[in-house]
Amino acid sequence: MNGSEEQDPANVRPHPFNVVLVGLPGAGKGTQAAQFARRHRVPKISTGDILRDAVARGTPLGREVAATLEAGGLVPDDVIVRVVQERLEHPDTARGFVLDGFPRTVPQAAALDALLGGRAVVVIFLEISPDVILQRLVTRRTCESCGQADTGAHTSEYCASCGGGFVKRADDHIDVIRRRLDAYVENTQPLVDWYSRRPAFRTVDANQPLADVARAFDAAVLECLGPGEIP
Ligand code: AP5
Repeated sequence: MNGSEEQDPANVRPHPFNVVLVGLPGAGKGTQAAQFARRHRVPKISTGDILRDAVARGTPLGREVAATLEAGGLVPDDVIVRVVQERLEHPDTARGFVLDGFPRTVPQAAALDALLGGRAVVVIFLEISPDVILQRLVTRRTCESCGQADTGAHTSEYCASCGGGFVKRADDHIDVIRRRLDAYVENTQPLVDWYSRRPAFRTVDANQPLADVARAFDAAVLECLGPGEIP
């Protein structure tokens, strides 16, 4: 926090690598965030990964949120903001970060602005046709160790990033997927409308192949920041 709390984040030039990804469940946020993080050497902060890890380890946070994740609902704003605040205090965020899955409500976005104390973010909306989503999520396998989705079209039993085994995510079942989509319409679509009024907001077509989405993602961030900002 830099003490510039009085600036309006809507009008402040974003820090080079403070990036927020929003989009429907299955739009490719986690996949693109991981690749962006590797390309630009910033941490990927995924609230879904943090919560699933807490559930798997049986921590107090995990016990608090387990039923919500299982049902496909949203964890309360105050709980998730506390989680993100703690994560953003880690020194590895000094050069910036890419946020995957947070914020997903307008109050969470307002809390993020307050946490950043005037440092604005680039917001990338991964826009995808709902027809594509179901197919992606019912066939998705994720690494049980690092949480990364299998992008290799089921060609290997093991994660290319860490060597962990692939499993089906507990919330990737059709009834839970439908509830996650409902939660998006109710809570996150208004957030997209809210962010879309900011100058550093861009929409990327997420129906394209992975590499094309990644190229469009980088180009959109660059466009928001201006030439020469991304090494
Ligand atoms: P979270 O983990 O954030 O889940 P989500 O938003 O539902 O998003 P997903 O992880 O399912 O999808 P994704 O967009 O990352 O897609 P992916 O890259 O994997 O949250 C889980 C739960 O935690 C929530 O339901 C909620 O309970 C709780 N939670 C988390 N954050 C919260 C918050 N801020 N507030 C309250 N509660 C919160 O891609 C999907 C599949 O498609 C993969 O198999 C991938 O390989 C494939 N794919 C991706 N891109 C392409 C492409 N271009 N072409 C072909 N295949 C592709």
